[in-house]
Amino acid sequence: MAVIAEKCSDIKVTVLDIDENKISLWNSNDLSLLPVYEPGLKEIICKVRNLNLFFSTDIENVIAESDVVFISVNTPTKTKGLGAGYASDLKWVESSTRTVAKFAKEHTIVVEKSTLPVRTAELIKKILEESDLANIDNNKKSFSVLSNPEFLAEGTAIEDLRKPDRVLIGGEDQKALNILSSIYENWIPKEKVLKTNLWSSELSKLTANAFLAQRISSVNSISALCESTGADINEVAMAVGLDKRIGDKFLKAGPGFGGSCFQKDILNLVYICRSYGLDEVADYWESVVKINNWQRRRISSKVVENLFGTVTGKKIAILGFSFKANTNDTRESSSIFISQDLIENGAILSIHDPKVSEKQIKNIMQNNPLITEFSEGSWEYQTNMYNAIESSDAIIVLTEWEEYSKIDWQECYKIMRKPAWVFDTRNIVNKVKILKEGINYWGVGDGN
Ligand code: UDX
Repeated sequence: MAVIAEKCSDIKVTVLDIDENKISLWNSNDLSLLPVYEPGLKEIICKVRNLNLFFSTDIENVIAESDVVFISVNTPTKTKGLGAGYASDLKWVESSTRTVAKFAKEHTIVVEKSTLPVRTAELIKKILEESDLANIDNNKKSFSVLSNPEFLAEGTAIEDLRKPDRVLIGGEDQKALNILSSIYENWIPKEKVLKTNLWSSELSKLTANAFLAQRISSVNSISALCESTGADINEVAMAVGLDKRIGDKFLKAGPGFGGSCFQKDILNLVYICRSYGLDEVADYWESVVKINNWQRRRISSKVVENLFGTVTGKKIAILGFSFKANTNDTRESSSIFISQDLIENGAILSIHDPKVSEKQIKNIMQNNPLITEFSEGSWEYQTNMYNAIESSDAIIVLTEWEEYSKIDWQECYKIMRKPAWVFDTRNIVNKVKILKEGINYWGVGDGN
């Protein structure tokens, strides 16, 4: 919405939330308090806030005066009830649709922005149509429903929005499609705005995420084979990626994908396939998540195996807790799962991350049913990377933060307990320098 406001000075954009605290943070003069950290966002907010970008909790009046309403609420995986563990929980989509139905006036275009299961538009349409028919206050309200999924990635969100590969809009009402398209055409070439039917648009978003995640699981599965055969995953990925038909993106081996989208969307796809009786298709996509979980476990096992089969009472430095670099987001981060495994095995973890706070980690660990006061292992937080490394038996690099590629290995050797180990799950450290210092090295997919 910030980018729409930036690019379309004649459009008034209002971001609504029922959470007053969040809205007051978005309105705060202290820009360090903005609830989301994203490179470039602060600058846009500075430029357009209170000009044509507003943050408000006045849901009734803002919806009433709006021509277009984007529904952008979260759709987490259900934890209980029908479809638990797979299906998306649509309760917030439903409640916001009911709110729009209640307060909208005249004709309103309702846009699904959240990532939603295929045919969710049906639910939205039904709720809106009912209110349309009821028309209690006789204000002749009517609705058009469009799907407009978002493909941005965290950390590069602003650039992704300014220069997207494509904008996808699904819907039947041509007039509504053209109105939404004309907003994007303020800064995106017309030929990049793809118009499809509603269901294709909804399904494309799930499929795009499933394909991206599938590439990561594919490369991670081959990383294990590289380790067994003497091949090197970076060389294999480069050789494979140079084939134009395959392409070189999303072929970096790692500790397994994290983030709020990939696993959730694939599980949702799996659930949808099963509900249509497509079990083979469901199994195929579910294996992408299975390989991801296997890769995480494989890494914690490698650490235990190499440390003479036990990590009980050993100090291990965990470098990186966010699910990727340049974000403080830890949702579904592989660091969580690998740390949990090591704590279960009795390790004493010393965790460092340049952007993730101790409070965030505490919340995650406290709500983790597998980590209890009876767990043999434990964890602590360190703001200084070398304090985390001091006296440790091993360093595990789990997030590709730039500062981890510049570690002083001579210093590490001095302060670590011997034999010292480095486990690089992102292939970003300097193996030659590490070995030269006399530190043992394991790199994901490095069979040399
Ligand atoms: C993703 C999609 O990229 C985006 O299009 C969608 O809208 C939301 O989900 P995001 O979750 O922000 O975006 O992160 P992304 O950059 O895709 O990375 C996801 C995970 O995959 C991270 O844990 C990352 O470290 C990992 N990854 C990515 C790899 O392990 N290897 C790669 O080659 C690329």
